[in-house]
Amino acid sequence: MSRMLHKVCLSILLALCSCSSPISPGEQNLAVIGGHNAMAPSYFAALHTPGASSPFCGATRIDEQHLLTAAHCVSETEGPLAVWLGVQDLGVRPESLPVDLVRIHPRYHTNRLQHDIAILTVSRMSESTIADGIRIAEESRTPPKLRVYGFGNISRKDYIYPQTLQTAELNLVPQSNCLRLGGAYGQVIEEQMCAGELKYGAHDSCDGDSGGPLVTQESPETLFGIVSWGTGCGRPKRPGVYTRVSAYREWIEQEKKGINALPLTEKIQALFYYPLYQSVSFPNGDVRIRRFTAAYQNWKPTESDKEFQVVSQWQRLWDGEAYRLELLQSKGSRYRLRLTVGQRTFEVPAFYTELTPQPPEESTVL
Ligand code: ARG
Repeated sequence: MSRMLHKVCLSILLALCSCSSPISPGEQNLAVIGGHNAMAPSYFAALHTPGASSPFCGATRIDEQHLLTAAHCVSETEGPLAVWLGVQDLGVRPESLPVDLVRIHPRYHTNRLQHDIAILTVSRMSESTIADGIRIAEESRTPPKLRVYGFGNISRKDYIYPQTLQTAELNLVPQSNCLRLGGAYGQVIEEQMCAGELKYGAHDSCDGDSGGPLVTQESPETLFGIVSWGTGCGRPKRPGVYTRVSAYREWIEQEKKGINALPLTEKIQALFYYPLYQSVSFPNGDVRIRRFTAAYQNWKPTESDKEFQVVSQWQRLWDGEAYRLELLQSKGSRYRLRLTVGQRTFEVPAFYTELTPQPPEESTVL
């Protein structure tokens, strides 16, 4: 829009505003909160459940196969997840790519919303030839001018979700200033940072933006934060709180190299041969696999489902009983684990969460 036109529009807007009660500059803007339409960066992804027409969180591609998002975006979901990569307009969505695995930071704390970070593996992303992802900041020192992207709520008072990706320019709030804002902000840790517009709350992220990227305004864009939480949206002295990604570089690297970097079948095999059978216990006939992350703790007897085919199988004799672990896969790339002990069969109906091997501890007596 030309400057002239802009001025005209602005004066019309001001004239209109003056009829009603005076409002702060913050309230004149909508979007993310106080944002505007954005060209979708190739690293921006929108997280959704397959079949949905709108996303519930954002995510950021960091290399060929991996994305970062907020742990709270994925910690409660049990079913399959998928991403739209580089999506700009929800009316013209790109192909929905399945999320193969989810790894939540081991120190993620639900109530305090700390270490709110998770890694998603989307192997189908590597098929595309477009960019590999955004660079993650190495330094914790964050530039004062930042930018956030998302499909989150654009209204302070209602729930209004945009069709087009939004972006807003934010200011970094120095750590000590943020801590002094009190309330939940007094609990902000070093691995978090605050950004927004303190005076009027004119620019902020909001519900639905979580997991999305907080990046530099200057190019090349660099990833500094992940949208995590805030008290309300776009309120004065209530900035957004972001996971400080540079604090997690090592964890991200480790996750990429460690057992979790193995292809799924090899990984499950590795887990089966090493820690798995130390951790099988049958309190009252229940099967618990302790070494698997919380998501796998409750193995249930389940009806078999024809859609699922055995793709790998491992067997082991232990204590006179045969243990068989099978990995099943459906056409939609959903997985199940089936454990057969003697005549009894148990299944983890669906899993998308990463397996986390733990250091050995005393084995449970059967
Ligand atoms: N927790 C929200 C989400 O799940 C993000 C809230 C961000 N709030 C803010 N005022 N910046 O989408």
